[in-house]
Formats: sequence, structure tokens, C-alpha cells
Amino acid sequence: MCGIVGYVGHQSAGPILLEGLQRLEYRGYDSSGIAVLDRDGSLAVLKRQGKLRDLEAAIVAMPSGGAGIGHTRWATHGVPSDRNAHPHASSSGDVIVVQNGIVENYRSLKAELEQTLAAQGRSWLSDTDTEVIPELIARELARGQMFEEALQAAIARLRGANAIAAFHRADPTRIYAARKGSAGGMVIGYGDGEMFLASDLPALLPHTTDVYHLEDGEIAVIDSQGALIHRADRPRHRPEPRQVDLDPVAVARGPYRHFMLKEIFEQPRALSDTIRGRARLDPPSALADEFEISDATLRSVERVLVIGMGTSLHAAMIGRWWIEQIAGIPADFDNASEFRFRAPVIGPATLVVSVTQSGETIDTLGAMDHVRDRWGAPQIVVTNVEGSEATRKADASILMRCGPEVGVASTKTFLGSLAALYLLACRIGKARGSLGDADLGEALEQLLTSPSLVERGLALSDQCNEIARSYTGSTNFLVLGRGIEHPLAMEAALKCKEISYVHAEGYAAGEMKHGPIALLDQQFPVIALATRGPLFDKMMSAIQQVSARRAPVIAVGDEGDDELAGLVDHYIGVPPASDLLTPFALTPVIQLLAYHIALARGLDIDQPRNLAKTVTVE
Ligand code: F6R
Repeated sequence: MCGIVGYVGHQSAGPILLEGLQRLEYRGYDSSGIAVLDRDGSLAVLKRQGKLRDLEAAIVAMPSGGAGIGHTRWATHGVPSDRNAHPHASSSGDVIVVQNGIVENYRSLKAELEQTLAAQGRSWLSDTDTEVIPELIARELARGQMFEEALQAAIARLRGANAIAAFHRADPTRIYAARKGSAGGMVIGYGDGEMFLASDLPALLPHTTDVYHLEDGEIAVIDSQGALIHRADRPRHRPEPRQVDLDPVAVARGPYRHFMLKEIFEQPRALSDTIRGRARLDPPSALADEFEISDATLRSVERVLVIGMGTSLHAAMIGRWWIEQIAGIPADFDNASEFRFRAPVIGPATLVVSVTQSGETIDTLGAMDHVRDRWGAPQIVVTNVEGSEATRKADASILMRCGPEVGVASTKTFLGSLAALYLLACRIGKARGSLGDADLGEALEQLLTSPSLVERGLALSDQCNEIARSYTGSTNFLVLGRGIEHPLAMEAALKCKEISYVHAEGYAAGEMKHGPIALLDQQFPVIALATRGPLFDKMMSAIQQVSARRAPVIAVGDEGDDELAGLVDHYIGVPPASDLLTPFALTPVIQLLAYHIALARGLDIDQPRNLAKTVTVE
């Protein structure tokens, strides 16, 4: 989703802003812009539709400027274009603003401000909702307010969630940042005689690891020496920066052609890191430390509900399966964007587990609010981002330890979520006494083998590449699975859609003959997930039915399964795994198939069109 950067200090702001935006490219965007203010008051605003290289090419002469803000936009209101790109200025040209989020009441605010604009012979310069913000600030300034007060007053008029960076043309020594609601993060970085601002950590890492995460309701006045925080209900304060231990090397692509491929190959490490110290065998325990929800609470709940969106929803579906199988408690999953607008009857005795790699997905945060406001049920979040909004809303967090994920398509955080959910299922089972020590030890021992299962799956990359090349021209795929392989079929289809732009549907194989089978012919390949689990025979009959319609079949089954191999057009053998661990065995192959299909089609794998890494708008 949109990205924000800011700088104030002794260096030239333009190149720093541009480099920061490049580091946020992974979030997805369709246009970009920067505004730089020189110490002598000269201002340059440059905006371009398209990629950052277009913006870079357009920078011929920029003031050397010691202050500035920048933005990558992902269009919501108004098409992607130069004029709709941020920064936006007030009609006076004095107040410069970039925004992440949506001003939900922008229509009424525009109507209100229009009279003043018309009286001055001015009109709106863009089709965006954001443009009302500099205009509101300018109006407050004209009433004699300080900039931070004017910003606060303007924000109080906005409905929706917004993260804002701004400055005033008359003051080249300060930039301002504000955060209201869940419109993504805003992080202030502390340098030596210079300060940085970004909506996401990777943009700050080359400069500093001393940071302050702006909280909901806070406004920061930032100069080259530090930040002063204002909020309506507390005295002003200078926050203590916190040191983050993120390795800048971890966000570099290294020898890999794409971040997505790098992140697929990082999965064994991401899994070991996520499991480390949390799966103990002697005596058996899971997530014993660091957990803020008591065993008494885990014993008192009658049901577990796992929610998420996209890939995280697929992880939630698998989590539901494990919680039922391992902990023996009723469990269900739900799509956060539907859940939050229903009147779900969950009751206070439901444990709600939200899965969100970013911790900032607006629908998942909305669902968490819904649970808190309506039911007050205990909540856990599984996330990859410490300090994210979801961690503030939940009673307890289980942090994956995957490191930053740059590719827009979630890969390592999918397996990170799975490891966390598996551990949680074990912990719930132990707390409730439904899982004895021996069974717990056995389940954890299995989990400890997951990194090596994934490692072996990665060795199949060349075979996936070869098969993918035979299907470069295919525009449809059906992906079938049963049991725990059904959510994986959905995840495989999602990966194909988002990075390969081919239409793919993930289906429970038993559902195929109730409709989708009508689609099948020689041009409609089917990917069948068919390891030797309890439903293997049923998968075999589904495959027979597919083959009878002459649709080509790519089967992913257990290594050495000659019976399956003999029945299908292409066969990929993954290391055999127990029923519980099947997702770890299959995931690398489904990701690699989608990756290689996209590669063969020559697509922009790390930044697929129309997609954003963190979905902070509805
Ligand atoms: C797919 C993908 C998205 C996210 C979804 C939820 O590869 O990345 O479907 O899974 O937007 O995001 P989080 O997990 O951040 O809540």
C-alpha cells in the first residue's frame, strides 16, 4: 500500500527520499512524488505516474534542500496520474502533505472548502481525497494556529484512518508526522544531527536502527535534533528511541533474481527461527514463555475462531484444522472482512486468533475491534511485525521470526504463521489436558522436522520450472486438494493469480463434480495435491475423473508414488510427511510452481500489478 518517507537534516533531502521510496517499492504503488524544501525557502514538488525510475528520470534539478517528504501512491480516489500523485499542496502552495489511508468524508469536506476556494478564484488540483488535508491545515493556520495545532485540528475533521506527513513552506527546519487509526505504521528514525521518517522500517535501516513508532492519535514535530510528540490527552514529550535489531542485509536480494524466490528459499531458516525455544521436548512444552494468556483462560474457552485475509486466511484454515486435531477443541475460521460486518455470535468463551503477517491489515484490525467491542473475548495475534497495530489490540502476540518480507506475495510468512499456529494448538491442548505429555512430545518432535521437509521441497525448484514452462500459455488452472490439502490448493491458486495473472481456482476435490468439472477440457490443466493421507483414495478418483475429461494433470504426491505418477501427465514427489506436517511438505512446491509460471511469462514478480503488500484501505 502507499508508502511515506521524510527527512530533515544536514544532507540533501532529495536522494535520501528517493532511496527511501525505493525501499518501500515492495508495498505496491502506481505513482510517486517528492517535495523538497531548501534552507532559502525554495520548494520543488515532483510527481510521476508509474515506476520510481520515471520519477528519478524527471529529477533534473532539485533544490539541495535539507527537508522533504515523499510518497508512493496506490490509487484509491482518482486514477493513477501525475496530478493525483502525492505530495499535495494547499491552494496557497504553502502546506505540503502526503497521506496513507482514506479520508472517508472527503466529499463533504470538499463541499465545505469549495466556497473559500471559489472566492479566491481557485479550484481543486486533483481528484484525490487527500487534497482536503493541506487545505484544512491552511485554513487553521490562517486563523493563527501553530502548524502542529492546525494539523491536529485538521485531523480531528477527518473520518477514517490516516497516516500523514507534512511541512510548511516557510519553515525548512521542520517536518510533521501524524497517525490516526490503522492506516499503517509511521516510524521516526534518529540520526546524528538528522532525522528520518518512514511508513515502514526497511526505508530507515540504511540510516539508523534507533526508532520511535508513532502511536494512534500522536503528532510528531521533527527537526534535525529529535522529535516532540503531541497528543490531545497527554503532555508533550520527547520519546526515547528504541533500538531495532533488523539486519539491513536481510532486506537485500542477494544472488536471487527476485525477493520472492529469496524468501521462498529462506523458509527453512524462518521456520527454525520461529520454532526456536518454543518447542521443548524434555519435558514437552509449547510456547511456555512469553505468553500473556493464562492456562486458566485457555481452559475456560469453549471454541477457537481463527481469522485472516488472503494467504493469512489460508493459514487460518490450516490452523483451525490443527487446533481441532491437536487440541481437540471446536475450532472454526472466518474471513475477517466478512466477519467484521456481520453480527457473528461468538460469545466471551471463544478464543479469537487473528493471523496477519503485517499486523496492519485493515479488515483484520476491524475484526479484532469488533470482537473486543461486542464480546470482549480473549484475543491472540500471529504476526511478523513486532509493535504493529494488531499486537496492540491483542491480549497476546505470537511473533513469527521470518525477518522482513519484501516480495508482495506472502511466502515465508505463510509458513511462519503455520509454525506459530501449530505451536498454539499444542499449547492449548496441553493447557486443557486434552494432549498428554507423550502426544505433545510427539507432535513437537514432528514440528521440529518441518525445516528439513521444506529444505527438501526446495530442491524440486528445477523440476517445477520445467513443468511450469509446459504451461506458459495456459490461462486457467484448477487446483484440487482434500482435508488439510484443501487450504493449500486455495493458496496455490492465489499465488498463481497474484503473480502469474492466470485464472486459478482452489477447490476441495469433493466439490469438483458439483460444478467446476464442466470447465475441464484439454486446455484446462489441473494441479492435484495428493499425498498419501487418509483421503488419498478419494483424491485418486477425482484425478481419474479429471483425466477422463482429457484435462492435463500435474500431481504433487509422495516421493516414489509410482501409482500416482503412472496416472498423471506430470508428477512431483515431495518428501513423505505425517498428516499433520503435510502443509510443510507441499508449500515449497506450490510456491515454486507459481513463481516459475510467472517467470516464464516474464512478469514483475515482486511487485505484481494492482497489489499492495499491506492492505490498509477498504
Ligand atoms: C498473498 C498476500 C495477501 C495477504 C493478505 C493479508 O500473497 O500477501 O493475500 O496475505 O493481504 O495480509 P496480512 O497477512 O498482512 O494481514
